[in-house]
Amino acid sequence: GVEISKLLSTTGLITLDPGFTNTGSTTSAVTYIDGDAGILRYRGYPIEQLAAKSTFLETSYLLIKGELPSATELEDFTQRISRHTMLHEDLKRFFDGFPRDAHPMPVLSSAVSALSTFYQDSLDPFNEEQVELSTIRLLAKVPTIAAYAYKKSVGQPLLYPDNSRGLVENFLRLSFGFPAEDYEADPLMVKALDQLLILHADHEQNCSTSTVRLVGSSHANLFASISAGIQALSGPLHGGANQQVLEMLATIKSSDGNIKSFVDRVKNKEPGVKLMGFGHRVYKNYDPRATLVKATADEVLSKLGGNDEMLDLAKQLEEIALSDDYFISRKLYPNVDFYTGLIYRAMGFPDRMFTALFTIGRLPGWIAQWQEMIKDPATKIGRPRQVYTGSTARDYTEIDGR
Ligand code: ACO
Repeated sequence: GVEISKLLSTTGLITLDPGFTNTGSTTSAVTYIDGDAGILRYRGYPIEQLAAKSTFLETSYLLIKGELPSATELEDFTQRISRHTMLHEDLKRFFDGFPRDAHPMPVLSSAVSALSTFYQDSLDPFNEEQVELSTIRLLAKVPTIAAYAYKKSVGQPLLYPDNSRGLVENFLRLSFGFPAEDYEADPLMVKALDQLLILHADHEQNCSTSTVRLVGSSHANLFASISAGIQALSGPLHGGANQQVLEMLATIKSSDGNIKSFVDRVKNKEPGVKLMGFGHRVYKNYDPRATLVKATADEVLSKLGGNDEMLDLAKQLEEIALSDDYFISRKLYPNVDFYTGLIYRAMGFPDRMFTALFTIGRLPGWIAQWQEMIKDPATKIGRPRQVYTGSTARDYTEIDGR
């Protein structure tokens, strides 16, 4: 219904592609996805191998630098990150200003945005040393910020990081250590969380990553770009879905566990009723991350003693959906968010922390993509066009004549 003349610009024909379903915004050498075959690789390495053999910090190095590190490189990277885990005391005071029931995602985004006021020595996007320093600071401080957001919500004191511990162990202690001296994270929990972070580490040009790139394309600094990415991730159609899945399962449980009637509401497209944790723009097959997460859910819940009833409910829901023509014909499968919340809950995190955990995982991917964008000579400021459908020119009417 749009006149062809409105699709013409000085630079040629404007393509209209809502949601950018078929528009490539960049070339990228970071992550490969084949959505039909259910394949995901970081820098060429299959996600299954990385999840089984790598660690989150090694995978972060791989994503950001392009190659797996040597033992010395990894040691150096790890040491540098552990030296930067503390927050400036003035930044710590931010946590007193937020309401106790603040959602961790806006707290994270605000604190990351504020990092650009504390670290004005590393804001130049074209100075490689400064970008490297901001990268280390982000990887080190985001877990601390996330843990503090949680600590504040439960009214416990903010602990100092213990840099003799690994990143995940440190994060778990900062979150659950009370009193801190006695806290020893369960090795199963450390391993499972580390693996979940690997699975979330990058996913090419998704909504939050595209946001990070778009903001960065204006030459805004890395902290500003990541802060915007965190806000994009918080939405229920993106990273926020992991929290929504648990809320959906609770709704089903409270209606006597009647899965079929919930699925009918989804199929009838009742406003606001979707099968959360299902469907994906790119995967038209089982999300390979969901396969791995499901196995981890079984392992963690059986050993840590999580809510098996909810896991059973999720599995039944998946089974019913995957044998229903509505979901089959639309190629809707569980995505990474479907089972993660159950694991996070078994670890002791409240539902509101789930997307913050996703943030810690996605951070190296955002950084890798931002760095690729800033170094790419083909990068231009992101500035999509539009097809105008508003009024034609008209004269201003005085207020008493309207
Ligand atoms: N439940 C029910 N129906 C769905 C779902 C779902 N979860 N997802 C898609 N559909 C239906 C749509 O209604 C549409 O049906 P129609 O053709 O009859 O209109 C069809 O499947 C195609 O869906 P689109 O909305 O066009 O798919 P799109 O690629 O735009 O959306 C998205 C992808 C946002 C992930 C969607 O599947 C969704 O909302 N899922 C639930 C939220 C979720 O789990 N998000 C996390 C995604 S993974 C991540 O970000 C980490």
